[in-house]
Amino acid sequence: MIVPSFEIVREPQLRLRATRCVAVRLRRPRAHLGFAGVVILTGLVLIGFALPAPISAQSGEGPDTVSVLDGVYSEEQARQGRQVFDMECGLCHAPGEFSGTTFQLSWTSRPVGALYSHIQMTMPQDRPGSLSAAQYAAVVAYILELNGYPTGKDALPHDPDSLSVIQLERNPNDGR
Ligand code: HEC
Repeated sequence: MIVPSFEIVREPQLRLRATRCVAVRLRRPRAHLGFAGVVILTGLVLIGFALPAPISAQSGEGPDTVSVLDGVYSEEQARQGRQVFDMECGLCHAPGEFSGTTFQLSWTSRPVGALYSHIQMTMPQDRPGSLSAAQYAAVVAYILELNGYPTGKDALPHDPDSLSVIQLERNPNDGR
């Protein structure tokens, strides 16, 4: 960058050149602002990339989630759940209400924990929350069995954190 000295600016034939230099120097702050803008924008973009990561993990797209297609309840638990259903739910419900495509689609993309807590907080309708956590988990396991989801070696847990990472999705092998 040519910085005109005091003497050069005083020469008439160099005045234009000096003016240009001033013009260039006036533009420089704008260039700095632009750079700062780029830095800020880059920061925002990076934040934008960083932020959705924990959110997507919660919504079921992260690596920490499990699907109901992965075998998340045991056969024995579903058997117990059937007994609980017959005693506590059968008065008002038929098992068929909680299986099939319509039921699966209405819960798709939500965690099993949402189904669990919905049932725990609202059912049995005449005395919500009256069953034990293990009984509610067993009933949910039975509902998963009704929908043809595969069994696994472990029983469905009943703590909210574990249930929140198990995703409900439509069973491709059960098109009723
Ligand atoms: C005294 C009757 C009664 C009993 C017992 C009962 N329910 Fe319900 N249930 C209802 C009624 C009525 C509705 C619909 C209105 C509502 O959602 O509150 C309902 C709704 C539901 C729903 C929501 C259905 C949907 O598609 O959103 C689920 C799930 C459910 N019950 C599960 C159960 C389970 C599991 C049990 C046993 C632990 C049970 N209910 C016991 C009467 C009962």
